[in-house]
Amino acid sequence: MYKSDLPIHSVLISPIHLAEQLKVELEGVQYTQEDLIFFVHEQTDKKWIWPNTVWLEPKVLKIESIKDASNKLRSIFRGAWQSYTPYLHRRTKLIEENIKVFKPKRYNYLDNLSPFAEWMLLDETTILYSLRTSANAPMGQVEFNEDKTSPPSRAYLKLWETFTCHISPPTNNDIVMDLGACPGGWTWVLKNHASKVISVDKAPLDKKILAASNVTYLAQDAFKLRKEDVPEVSWLLSDIACYPEKLLELVQYWMTADTIKTFVCTVKLQDKFNPSLVEDFQKIPNSKLFHLYQNKNELTWILQR
Ligand SMILES: C[S@@+](CC[C@H](N)C(=O)[O-])C[C@H]1O[C@@H](n2cnc3c(N)ncnc32)[C@H](O)[C@@H]1O
Repeated sequence: MYKSDLPIHSVLISPIHLAEQLKVELEGVQYTQEDLIFFVHEQTDKKWIWPNTVWLEPKVLKIESIKDASNKLRSIFRGAWQSYTPYLHRRTKLIEENIKVFKPKRYNYLDNLSPFAEWMLLDETTILYSLRTSANAPMGQVEFNEDKTSPPSRAYLKLWETFTCHISPPTNNDIVMDLGACPGGWTWVLKNHASKVISVDKAPLDKKILAASNVTYLAQDAFKLRKEDVPEVSWLLSDIACYPEKLLELVQYWMTADTIKTFVCTVKLQDKFNPSLVEDFQKIPNSKLFHLYQNKNELTWILQR
């Protein structure tokens, strides 16, 4: 049972296996932890990187009974509720019998995501809920009906999540550059949207991907590519396996190319999270840095301008 008397300003849900990374982010912030749920007890304007989702407006609701809880939740929000049950499982289930409950599902690529709310019991007579969360899917969990035959790697799931949950995909007016493209999972996604995909990697691209009429493969070091080599590119995507410092240099160089309007980059990390390595990405105006559900020990940085 939740024991603290401190106010709860936000609730962070950690990705499984990456709670240690989130704890580094929480250093200096007053919080308590219950399983993968982190209750933040102070107002902070931190831009959270690691949580699967953040409850942006947690509210406390006093309840007198199970029936009272269902009635109150229903009157607050008629759509589907997602519960969290670190404790009081049975009581939660009983309350759920009379409210609309979110049914875990696998999404299709570019599915429309329906609104939802999240809640939990803090104790027998206290509910904590939030109508606004940072993620577009309950618990920030975005599992897809995967294509297990066509893409040459599972990296395509990161772009599926990016385009389903965060930004619109490129259009046939776009020329896109996919850096660190081998074996071609991202290029496989991009070739169905953009007019042309320039795929760059020192390692070879999968033959099926290479055969697409709108894919051009450059077998070279992505860091040596210059603006004049690829004029009129409107998107830069990078999944290059490299240190964050190197990626930052690359991004800073390509930000001087006026034609590039959108950047989507994976920031690969070492074992222990070092915030100072990624803070320069966070400082770039209008960009966001966050952990996709499909990211492992890595982050995604997006800039649209
Ligand atoms: C995680 S893999 C990319 C997976 C790819 N996005 C996909 O969807 O299949 C990382 C890639 O970065 C490439 N890489 C590493 N250093 C590079 C460099 N200097 N120039 C180009 N590619 C590089 C590696 O060869 C490797 O193929």
